[in-house]
Amino acid sequence: MLCTGAGVRNPKPGKQFARPLATPSAPCSNQPGVANVEIRELRLDDSDQIRALWEEAFGPQSSDVREALALKLTRDPDLALGAFEGDRLLATIIGGWDGWRAWIYRAAVAKDARRRGIASALTEELERRLIAKGAQRALLMYWGRSDDPRAFWPALGYRPFPLVGVMGRRLDEPRRPLAPQPLPPEIAKHQGRTGISSHWDEVLANDLHSPGSVDAVLSEGQVRLNDHTREFLYSHYTPTFAEYLPGSRPFLEKIVAPLCADSSPQTALNLARWVSQIEHNFPTPERPTARGFYPTPDSFLWGGTEEEVIKKGSDWCTELARVYCVLAQVAGIPARIVFCYDLARQLHGHCANEVFLAEGWRFIDPQGDCHFEHPSGEWASAWEVMHKSGLTRCGEGWRAEWYLHPKTDLAMTIVNYFVMDHHKYDYRWDPINDYYRKILAPQWGQSAENL
Ligand SMILES: CC(C)(COP(=O)(O)OP(=O)(O)OC[C@H]1O[C@@H](n2cnc3c(N)ncnc32)[C@H](O)[C@@H]1OP(=O)(O)O)[C@@H](O)C(=O)NCCC(=O)NCCS
Repeated sequence: MLCTGAGVRNPKPGKQFARPLATPSAPCSNQPGVANVEIRELRLDDSDQIRALWEEAFGPQSSDVREALALKLTRDPDLALGAFEGDRLLATIIGGWDGWRAWIYRAAVAKDARRRGIASALTEELERRLIAKGAQRALLMYWGRSDDPRAFWPALGYRPFPLVGVMGRRLDEPRRPLAPQPLPPEIAKHQGRTGISSHWDEVLANDLHSPGSVDAVLSEGQVRLNDHTREFLYSHYTPTFAEYLPGSRPFLEKIVAPLCADSSPQTALNLARWVSQIEHNFPTPERPTARGFYPTPDSFLWGGTEEEVIKKGSDWCTELARVYCVLAQVAGIPARIVFCYDLARQLHGHCANEVFLAEGWRFIDPQGDCHFEHPSGEWASAWEVMHKSGLTRCGEGWRAEWYLHPKTDLAMTIVNYFVMDHHKYDYRWDPINDYYRKILAPQWGQSAENL
């Protein structure tokens, strides 16, 4: 098996790993600072250690590590490498060579062994083997929000290809085409901002967002959640993976980083709590009296990018739902926007989100900082909230009572909004119009004439 003579860079003596392929059993403790770290090909009986390492590095594993490794070892065992200290597996890397392209997977180092040059050593060993097979270029993908791959790979000369899209699907799942554009005719019948109720048709027809602006486009795109659309909206409509190109929305990334928890549900809750506080935490220096868009709606401008929505300290639910949607996607959590309409009480409307957690879409209200749970503790979807079937409100937000109120006859609609699509939208700002001036007046305790 192969051996590096490397593993502990202490202090950095330069990376001494480049060398011809070693013979199996070559000694590896002949360099100062090297504490018996050996690189060798992985074996089936390493499976338990590999699984534990990958769970530490990447989180819960969805497939059987032993089975996957067995398959790999029958194909090209020389491209599945581990770094060992004694019997302990410290790190892995897996290579793929299909005769056309080379790929690198599963670079993972135990937390307590990082920044010792181990992943660099494994990569260099793997590259050497790939080159020996005829590969000229190696590619890799990384997932999620961690800084590690974004810092590690460039240090080894790997660069991002910003214009390359990556697509994939699980081959062991039934093929589920993503929402075709346009929507299938039977679903398209339920799209748009008319037909919710005559009252809401009037409110939405007098929308203050300019035609073509982001919030107007999302409003036009909403699909009514009902018996005809339910299956489509909960299967094909929204991809159940979040696509985000690291570095493309740095302001949002900075917000998300400290809010990421070990589990997606906890991250989703942290993000909701954070969004609910925007109106308090983000008045702009230019408008020091602002607390959200108070004290009057005339001092508020609707619209803007999510970065601008945050900085202006918005308290407007449609804008906050947009913010939540993209923050969740930056955190790796699929999310979409849910509009809520009370059909029984005029002007009781709201906007919130669904996030994809644990194999299902779950409703969350970032402005109200709440979600709803079944007696089993499982989070409810928007559909379930709409039907109010024995749910408990979880969270502090005062608006939450409204959903489960016996008088609430809820209608809901859903629309997709993706963080990577920002270049497709018009984020202009709009002032209030006369119609909204009238309907918002009571909220400020003033007459419409005075607003
Ligand atoms: C990414 C990972 C494999 C790097 O392993 P490692 O053994 O710590 O990497 P190295 O010690 O060889 O680092 C080489 C260089 O990369 C850069 N680097 C690596 N990790 C870094 C980090 N977290 N932050 C900043 N720079 C980093 C540094 O320039 C480092 O050189 P230096 O230590 O002299 O400054 C490891 O952090 C890990 O397992 N992370 C979790 C799993 C993961 O994200 N894997 C990538 C999948 S594509």
